[in-house]
Amino acid sequence: MAANATPPNADAQTGGPLHVAIVMDGNGRWAKKRGLPRTLGHRAGVEALKRTVSAAPKLGSGWLTVFGFSTENWSRPAAEVSELMALPKRFFESDLGRLEREGVRVRVLGRRQGLSADLLRMLDEAEARTRHNDHFNLNIAFNYGGQADIADAARRFAEDVAAGRRRPEDMAEAMFASHLATSGSPPPDLIVRPSGEQRLSNFLLWEAAYSEFVFQDVLWPDYGEDHLRAALQVFAGRDRRYGAVTADDVLAAG
Ligand code: IPE
Ligand code: MG
Repeated sequence: MAANATPPNADAQTGGPLHVAIVMDGNGRWAKKRGLPRTLGHRAGVEALKRTVSAAPKLGSGWLTVFGFSTENWSRPAAEVSELMALPKRFFESDLGRLEREGVRVRVLGRRQGLSADLLRMLDEAEARTRHNDHFNLNIAFNYGGQADIADAARRFAEDVAAGRRRPEDMAEAMFASHLATSGSPPPDLIVRPSGEQRLSNFLLWEAAYSEFVFQDVLWPDYGEDHLRAALQVFAGRDRRYGAVTADDVLAAG
């Protein structure tokens, strides 16, 4: 089968570097199992992110997009929201230098409104210091929602039309995609969700059109290289057809 003949970490169709997207989930349950406050689950989740970012390029992936904070997470208790808001700082304070040296380009996806000036400065710095890197790409979805991003993209296009820069007939799939926060990133080949939940939760709605999904029974703070390798092995066995049929099927049909 073609999918099995392809290196496990390259896309079967394009042979290009794999884009893995992860819904980092299960921090709260991890903490609860240990009788710890949820905040400590989130801090342990940052350690899992560090392990996973280090593992991904070794396993042949070229892009990693992680869901850090969703537009719906604002509805959590204020103390938990403020802990979640502090996570990027925790991550970058310890790891930005390493990411910079190791050729990782960081991009932040999501709405900027609602984020503190301090946090925005940190996110801007991470993007600016790594913008010339091209060994590996790390997208951090923060204050991100797929529906919000689609609405924002539609609004930007409408503004272009109102200003006379675009005509309604310019709208097509590629034009729309170029207005999304993920513009410049390939669509995710594989979307992974640990913690046992099997839903997309407003992550990459447009981009997930032909993504493969792998759900893993591990809580995010326990995640690491072995789990990512296992997810990539499952992915390698998938037969991606993008709505078409395989060459074998065409031959068989005569
Ligand atoms: C993921 O862990 C962190 C974010 C959603 C920001 P959760 O906090 O959702 O953990 P559970 O689902 O309660 O275990
Ligand atoms: Mg959750």
